[in-house]
Parts: sequence; C-alpha cells; structure tokens
Amino acid sequence: MKVLIQNGTVVRSDGTEKADILADNGVIVRIAPKIACEADKTVDASGCYVFAGFIDTHTHLDLELTSTTTADDFETGTKAAVVGGTTTVLDFATQDRGMTMQDALDKWHRKADGKSSCNYGFHMAVSEWNEDRKAEVDSMIGQGVTSFKMYMVYPAMRVNDGQIYDAIRYAAERDCLVGVHCENFDLLNARIKELHAEGRFEPMAHADSRPDIVEAEGVARLMRIAELADAPAWVVHLSCEASLDEVEAARGRGVEVYAETCPQYLTLDKACYAQPDGEKFIMSPPLRLAHDRSAILNGMSDGMIDFIGTDHCSFTMAQKALGNGDFADVPNGGAGIQNRAELVYTYAVKAGYITLEQMAALLSENAAKLFGMYPKKGVLQEGSDADITVFDPDCPHTISWKTNLHNVDNSPYEDVPVLGGTKDVLVNGELVVENGKLIKPYCGRFVFRGPSTRTRK
Ligand code: URP
Ligand code: ZN
Ligand code: ZN
Repeated sequence: MKVLIQNGTVVRSDGTEKADILADNGVIVRIAPKIACEADKTVDASGCYVFAGFIDTHTHLDLELTSTTTADDFETGTKAAVVGGTTTVLDFATQDRGMTMQDALDKWHRKADGKSSCNYGFHMAVSEWNEDRKAEVDSMIGQGVTSFKMYMVYPAMRVNDGQIYDAIRYAAERDCLVGVHCENFDLLNARIKELHAEGRFEPMAHADSRPDIVEAEGVARLMRIAELADAPAWVVHLSCEASLDEVEAARGRGVEVYAETCPQYLTLDKACYAQPDGEKFIMSPPLRLAHDRSAILNGMSDGMIDFIGTDHCSFTMAQKALGNGDFADVPNGGAGIQNRAELVYTYAVKAGYITLEQMAALLSENAAKLFGMYPKKGVLQEGSDADITVFDPDCPHTISWKTNLHNVDNSPYEDVPVLGGTKDVLVNGELVVENGKLIKPYCGRFVFRGPSTRTRK
C-alpha cells in the first residue's frame, strides 16, 4: 500500500519544510520537495501541517474502578483518539492488589487487541511493590512495557514513599521511567472531612479539598525521593504553578525530572465547578486558577513541560451521579482523548505561547524518546513508521460531546471554540482518517517499546 501526502508543510521539532511524503508498506520511504509517483492513495495536504502522529502518554481505557468502569474502552476510545490525530496511546494497564503484573498485562492485551483504531502501548500501574512484583519488572521489559506508574492516592492503589523510592531506583537501573500521581493523601482526606463538616458536598468542594499545595507537597516529596534514589522521576498530570516551582527547584539541584501536563490544565479553570454539570470536571488533580493556567502555558513555552497526555478517563453523567451529590464519591476523570491537538494548537500555538515545532515535540517527539519508541515514532524521516497526522490550521469549530466520538454524553470542553483540527491520519501506513472521518477502523497494533531515551540525563 503506497500513500502519497502532497503539498503540506512538514513540521518537526527542529523546523518546518514544504515537502511531500511517500509511505510504502507502513514505512516512510521518501520525503522530498516534490514526489511524482503512482500511489494507491493520494492525500492533498495543501494549507495543512504534517506532523509525526501524535502520542497520548496518559489514557485510562476500559479501566474498572470500585464503583464503575470507564465509559470508553479500546474500541470507542481509540476511534476518538485517531480522529483527533493521535496515532499511539499509552494506556495504564493496572495491576490491582492480588494480581500479578503479568495478569494485568494479559488482561490489557485482551481489552485492546483487535479493537484498536490507533496503535497502543501499556504503562504498568502497580498497586503493590514487593519482591514478587519487583521480580516481574524484567519480564515486563521483555514484553515491551518499559514504564510504570504509582499513585500516592486512591485507597485501592496507593503505595508508600519507601516503595516509590525502591521502584524508581530499580526502574532507573533498567532505563525505565516511573510516573507518579502526586498528591498528599492524608491532607486531602483531612480537607474532605472539614468540607463535609461545613456541609460542602458540591463539585466546587472537590477543588477546595485538594488545592495546589496538596499536589505540590506530593511533587516536592517525589523530587526528594528521586534525589535520594539518584533516579529520574516523571510527574504525571502536573496541574499548577506550585508544582512547577518544585520541579524547577529540583532540576536546579540536579534531579532528572520529566513533567507531563494535560490540555484541561491549560484551557479550563476552577470556575467550571460552578456549572450545573460541574461533576463532569471532577478529576484529580482538579482544575486550578488562572495563574496556574498561565504557568502551565509558560512552562510549555520555556521547556519546563516535557509532554502532554490527556488523562482521558471518561464517565457518563449517569456514572458521575454515582457520587449521589457528594464530590468525594464521584468517579474521578474526564473525557478528552479526541481534543488534545486542536486545543493545544488553538490555546498554545495560536495564542503565541509555543511554536509549531514545540507542538511537534510536546505532542509526539518527546514522548517517543522518553517512552522508547524513537525514531520509529515521533519524527517524520525516511525509515520511520508511517504514523502521520495532517492538521488543518483553518477549520474553526466548537467542541461538543455530540460530535466527539467519545462514548459519553458530556465533555469538559463543551462549546469551547478551536481554530484547527485533524484532517487526515495514517496509522501504520494506512489512511484511516480522511477529511476528518474515520474510514478504516481497527488498524492499531501493540507497540513493543524499548528503554527510555532519558533526554534530561
Ligand atoms: O481524575 C483522574 N485523573 N482520574 C484518572 C486516574 C488518575 O489519577 O490518573
Ligand atoms: Zn493520576
Ligand atoms: Zn490518569
């Protein structure tokens, strides 16, 4: 199968050029100013930017929680992802207590295999860290899983600081990254108690229960743990200025820190919780204040932030209502897997915070390097996988759950205007999205990842 992309502006982290791209049999075989050849399919990218397919570093598809299961599974979630320009998702396979990592990995393969419309890899989220789990790490690496996640919060998942210390050191010896959900569990529980005692149960109280200090304390602690372990740390879904300050201070001490943020933290703020459907914004960390939004955007601009994942963890409003009006019992998470590129383009590139080249780095290249996929993914060059996103910078529209392919009846970005959107997408050399429509589902494959290229080492 030969696909020729013509007349586009190719965007890489180090510059842009007008060029055509020829993909053959899943691989980019030629990039040149003008390519004249017969192809099975031709894509007209006139007026469009052509990026290495975007990589979403943070998704929760088909994740069972104690009260419910996320609304999007690999079938619906990856259809939405690819229509939004994402060609690879890294989902959190989750080792619940009493399970092995192998059980979790097998389970996630069953969830994803044959159902995915974009490529997918797995991080392994671990709820236990002991000699048995540790003994599985090399086997995970041997199966292409080279990154892990630990939580400081959620009763069913949380591990302690000593376990984080041991895990990040053990992982670093193998050039693997461990992402940590940083919040102080005891502080947020104390705040929930106080708020309940004041009769506060509404969505706004969610934000008040876990203010920036609750996150920044967790980040500061992780920074010190990483410093002691002499190991890299990946801060997942960083949301606020106070946490960025901790990252900056730690980097100043020589700590190797990778910071991930999410589109919600650069586009939305705490006022959203006052909306009638405020429950749809209940996620952790919560939405913050205007100064935090600016700090995140500036952090993307000045290189403080390394990559952007969505933390897509979607629930219907009926699922959100399982909280019975108490913010503390509402399933945590929001939908966004389809909207990342159009939001980043509109609110970071067009707003003047980052360049197109930085967009390429933040949405694809940096993640490919850090998560062991580069240069097959994350860059447009001859020999790389033909995962390619053609992005139209001039198609203004508003986001709505009604037009998103997410399997939910809500969007945190309802009615949010965006200026551009994904036009065409190649996954493994197949044209799967044409003029914004998914024309060929289920082309996704498992991505067997290697060790991390630790860019800040
Ligand atoms: O609220 C969120 N973020 N839900 C998903 C789980 C997590 O903490 O990443
Ligand atoms: Zn988390
Ligand atoms: Zn998450």
